[in-house]
Amino acid sequence: MDTQTTLPTDRAKGKVPGGRVDASFECIREQMQQVEQLLREQMQSKYEDLSPLLAHGALLGGKRLRPALVLLAAKASGKSTQDHVVLGTVIEMIHTATLIHDDVLDAADQRRHLPTVNAKWNDQTSILLGDYLFAQAFTLSATLGSTQACQWIGDAARRVCEGELRQIFSSGSSQLSEEDYFDIIRGKTAELCRISCRLGAEHSGADQATQTALADFGENLGIAFQIADDYLDVWGSTERVGKTLGTDLLQAKPTLPLIRLLQSDPAMQSQLDELAAMPDGPRCEAIMDRMNRCDSKQYTLATAEQFAANAVAAIDFLPESAAKRSLQEIAFFSVHRNV
Ligand code: IPE
Ligand code: IPE
Ligand code: MG
Ligand code: MG
Repeated sequence: MDTQTTLPTDRAKGKVPGGRVDASFECIREQMQQVEQLLREQMQSKYEDLSPLLAHGALLGGKRLRPALVLLAAKASGKSTQDHVVLGTVIEMIHTATLIHDDVLDAADQRRHLPTVNAKWNDQTSILLGDYLFAQAFTLSATLGSTQACQWIGDAARRVCEGELRQIFSSGSSQLSEEDYFDIIRGKTAELCRISCRLGAEHSGADQATQTALADFGENLGIAFQIADDYLDVWGSTERVGKTLGTDLLQAKPTLPLIRLLQSDPAMQSQLDELAAMPDGPRCEAIMDRMNRCDSKQYTLATAEQFAANAVAAIDFLPESAAKRSLQEIAFFSVHRNV
């Protein structure tokens, strides 16, 4: 891949103690609380027996990265408003819906340090709760003054689904190129980050060039974030990350660690075909062992760092502000996180 810039890692390291993303939320603290409040209000039903499900599925907090991107992009390029709180809430609801559905696809039993909806209830409940969140998110976005946001968010949600579908179709393939992998994660993960930043800027009255730069920041950040996530799926600790890991290898998803292994040893292709006949556990261990004997781990991390550096570079021209610094710290965090 192309190398363009380097990340100001030392500065960022000092600013994100312990790798926690919320250290970067200081300048938007009040509005992040409003997002929490609005999420809570949105996820209420007159049917009491649904309350534990709605609370479990939506209110128990993840990192809230996407609402933070909306608010920080707004502040870095202009002024944040009540509309940004609504936009952040809508995007977090869409993100949560995709996670609830994704946990069915991956047969995952842990998310955000808790049992997944499919583990605690069942797959049917997950499908419907995800749908509930999608429906409620679009109802909320229709309360905004224009239909622009609704249209952009709808388009982004479609791209997330395209990415997830393309990933399913690529499962078991040893032919997927690095470019195709980037393209898949650009859809399934980077698109919501891109649209969060773009909407933040657009609703703060930023000019086209600034909107484009922030959208570019969000896209590169999202790609870095998913590469790091794919790294954690192989080398992370479930205890710290708080979700089921190891499903990528189990389902033979060609993520960057595996793609790199295949690139680094042409004989791997036929070896993988032979390994395919083994039971899950020993097969995954054998592949892990081979990954650890090539530069797969270092290469995956270095590639994520490069996308984070590109994100930082995209907004370099913005005037200095606390919000801009937070965005740059989040770019660093997205790679060097263990959560
Ligand atoms: C998880 O996203 C799914 C990916 C895109 C890798 P997050 O890591 O942002 O999930 P939460 O919202 O913090 O749980
Ligand atoms: C899918 O990626 C995340 C979505 C975009 C829905 P993963 O399957 O890697 O996400 P996690 O690891 O389960 O959070
Ligand atoms: Mg998953
Ligand atoms: Mg993952």
